[in-house]
Amino acid sequence: MSLLEIDELRVSYPGRGFRAKPVEILHGVSLDVGHGETVGLVGESGSGKTTIGRAVLGLVRPSDGSIRYANQEIGGLQGRARRGLASEIQVVFQDPYTSLNPSMTIGDILAEPLIIHGASGRDARSRVRSLLDQVGLPADAIDRLPREFSGGQRQRVAIARALAPGPKLIVCDEPVSALDLSTQALVMDLLVDIQRETGVAYLFISHDLAVVRHISHRVAVLYRGDLVETGDAATVTSTPEHPYTERLLLAAPVADPSAQREKREKRRRLLAAKP
Ligand SMILES: Nc1ncnc2c1ncn2[C@@H]1O[C@H](COP(=O)(O)OP(=O)(O)OP(=O)(O)O)[C@@H](O)[C@H]1O
Ligand SMILES: [Mg+2]
Repeated sequence: MSLLEIDELRVSYPGRGFRAKPVEILHGVSLDVGHGETVGLVGESGSGKTTIGRAVLGLVRPSDGSIRYANQEIGGLQGRARRGLASEIQVVFQDPYTSLNPSMTIGDILAEPLIIHGASGRDARSRVRSLLDQVGLPADAIDRLPREFSGGQRQRVAIARALAPGPKLIVCDEPVSALDLSTQALVMDLLVDIQRETGVAYLFISHDLAVVRHISHRVAVLYRGDLVETGDAATVTSTPEHPYTERLLLAAPVADPSAQREKREKRRRLLAAKP
């Protein structure tokens, strides 16, 4: 049994204007994430990646299909039942500058979810110290404000906050996209280390196939609200079956200029062949 099982998920958003029909964004997506597994979800902007994450987090209701977590249907859960899942399913967002409350110290940001889940002030404080250590931040971060930290460090705080209640699944929605390349690599290594230590699973959303390839066990490729390819990360990213995956792959930059030229040429031919 998988930790998370998404089956034939459909999500619609209200259409614009008077009597507008709802617009279907996800057209029956099926995807699962195993215990301790990282599943990378890639696709171009607007393909519906964040919408899948939001549905898993209970922020949008499926119009059809099911989302099961640990064998329990969670697709339509609301209110207290949904809040109870907060210690199981957590999230890290893209933007480290807006996702942390600017007027709270790092210590309070990290202690808040613990206290909500019933920890005493003292236990929370010692857990906060171990969380800071786990994400590679100095102990004195506890009394400082988010603005005193770089983007990469803030993302470490966001990761620590997600880890605080001891979740089994973290939805990571473009967690490194706002960071420069060397910081991206450090934060991804941190996520891998944390997974090794805690066995947490990730649904890792990114438009960047290079990032997803680096971190995922399996990769799912979303194209306009449909999954077009799912499989082992190495296989999907080296020998893609679907022409859309191939296009995504060719769009990802490579370091070597001659290989880049060759790729650009191949991409041009592919685009010319498939209008
Ligand atoms: N609250 C909303 N109301 C109406 N339409 C929405 C809403 N949120 C998203 N959409 C539409 O749903 C589609 C999918 O959006 P989504 O954010 O899931 O894409 P994405 O793959 O995460 O893109 P990106 O890579 O840019 O983050 C888009 O066409 C978007 O305009
Ligand atoms: Mg998105």
